[in-house]
Amino acid sequence: MTTSPEKPRVLTGDTPTGSLHLGHYVGSIENRLAMQDEYDCYVFVANVHALTTRADDVASVRADTISIVKDWLSCGIDPNKTTLFLQSEIPAVAELTWYFAMLLGYGRLMKNPTVKDEIRVKNLGENYSFGFLMYPVGQIADILAFRPQFVPVGEDQIPHIEMTREVARRFDQLYCGVDPHTDDAEYASAGGVFPIPAAKTGRVSRLTGLDGVNKMSKSLGNAIFLTDEPRQVQKKCNKIFTGRGSMDDPPILENNTILEYLKAFHTDPARVEELTADYAASKLGDGHLKKEAATAINAFLDPIRARRARITDDDVIDILKAGTAKANTTAEQTLWQAKQAAKFDFFERDITLR
Ligand code: TRP
Repeated sequence: MTTSPEKPRVLTGDTPTGSLHLGHYVGSIENRLAMQDEYDCYVFVANVHALTTRADDVASVRADTISIVKDWLSCGIDPNKTTLFLQSEIPAVAELTWYFAMLLGYGRLMKNPTVKDEIRVKNLGENYSFGFLMYPVGQIADILAFRPQFVPVGEDQIPHIEMTREVARRFDQLYCGVDPHTDDAEYASAGGVFPIPAAKTGRVSRLTGLDGVNKMSKSLGNAIFLTDEPRQVQKKCNKIFTGRGSMDDPPILENNTILEYLKAFHTDPARVEELTADYAASKLGDGHLKKEAATAINAFLDPIRARRARITDDDVIDILKAGTAKANTTAEQTLWQAKQAAKFDFFERDITLR
């Protein structure tokens, strides 16, 4: 595994919730592929995080953990360039969660709009676990343990990154003597253990689902998964809603999901323009265009399918083990520096994975 201290570090994690879909690909995977060479990338499976709402379903969290790594690898995430690791096997993260929890007010946590949203959207009412409320604190530790410069995330995660920045500043001020007037960019050079990380939201990429209206999402049942078979892809594409009542009505070009997919996944833009023109002139109908879209998506998915078929569960475990060992080295260094700063540095230690 290559270490590249001169490259800026980025860190991000995915909660394992089942197979990734095309929306994930254009929304985040594509970005990560592009960053692999220029950044020191760490990407982890947030498997502890998954327990916040699925503690009664550990077997499927485990299966989803293996499956999401297969998805990453089959898309071309290269474990020699990106450190892939398992959240549950980084003890420094669990420990930092405790220390950071002391630096964050309960009221501040409850004002976090993403936490409030999640309670509402998932219908948790008053019935969320204590661990559920701990997850944003855990997320702060996930991030700060690696002292990244950037955290690539979706818009909904910005409030968590903002809290992470607050806690990093507070720690650095409290235990490292950093002056509160210090510029965010100067915290590390002013003696802070934690640089203040920035969210990186990437290019806006919202892929519409098969319903032609909502963002593609597993829970809405409007997704094409990376693991779908060619025939399933064709069947799903046949269901795409374009808003057109009957084939006697004129074609609707605006917000046309079939055209959106063709633009996103067809490799030949000239051909897409040709198809669009013929469609606009009613020379070909929705059915034909859907067939073209399915063909393009299947051609896009073919190499991903081929790579996936070659990856075994054992490969995933080996890759996670190597990545987790490396991640532990980094996270242990951070924890030790943090403990030294806070005068909690009783015993130095090593972590060995077996
Ligand atoms: N909360 C993120 C999600 O549900 C997952 C996550 C956990 C994460 N820890 C993180 C993302 C740290 C970025 C950095 O999608």
